[in-house]
Amino acid sequence: MDRANYSVAYELKNMLVNRIADRHFREMSSRYLHGRLIDIGCGIKPYREVLAPLVAAHIGVDHEGSLHDRSNMDLTGTAYSIPAPDGSFDSALCTAVLEHLEEPERAIRECHRVLKQGGMAIYSVPFIWHLHEEPRDFYRYSKYGLKYLFEKCGFEIVELRALSGFWVTFGQMLVYYLYTFNRGPLRWIPIIPALGLLIQGVSFVLDWLHCREEWTWMYMLAARKRESSG
Ligand SMILES: C[S@@+](CC[C@H](N)C(=O)[O-])C[C@H]1O[C@@H](n2cnc3c(N)ncnc32)[C@H](O)[C@@H]1O
Repeated sequence: MDRANYSVAYELKNMLVNRIADRHFREMSSRYLHGRLIDIGCGIKPYREVLAPLVAAHIGVDHEGSLHDRSNMDLTGTAYSIPAPDGSFDSALCTAVLEHLEEPERAIRECHRVLKQGGMAIYSVPFIWHLHEEPRDFYRYSKYGLKYLFEKCGFEIVELRALSGFWVTFGQMLVYYLYTFNRGPLRWIPIIPALGLLIQGVSFVLDWLHCREEWTWMYMLAARKRESSG
């Protein structure tokens, strides 16, 4: 599949979850992010436009082996070793990265190091999601695990949101499963993308009618570096 077709397929497949995540991110970023921001595991910097009016600088760091377009990286480093001095950022962003790290606690401590006292971080982390970016896919997180980890590393959780209930998660899993058949001659008939959109629409309505957050596909959290933490 060429690059343009790949991104169209990706957008269609993820339309619902991307829209939900975007809506929550817009609300939370406008509330918590400002000043110099470090985007840890920035990938293609998908939130660049949302952040532009909010922050003074948006600095992306990603590792050398990243599978994403490297033109968005400002710094080459890892989540464990960000090439920046202590306390050099007002805000941090780390979306859909923590599950790809062997040692999440070390990475959260590194984020804590580069933030100023009182600095804010926004993370998004999957709870129910299929394997991706293999073999660098290590963990899934519950809200209790997240609270434990962030507090242990010197953060106070200010807000933690479950982004969906059962239906969006289940619908999205079904869409991904169906897309595994979108190959060979089937690729030329848009039956699976059409079915995918229908499933996403129905899932959205069902989740709106009955949302059970214990089946969320993703959490988004805002955490503050505690004033007194060393
Ligand atoms: C699913 S992508 C998310 C990218 C982006 N944050 C987003 O929201 O679209 C995971 C990102 O984590 C990065 N990553 C994986 N291991 C890393 C590490 N040890 N240090 C820094 N980034 C890492 C990958 O290169 C990739 O850009």
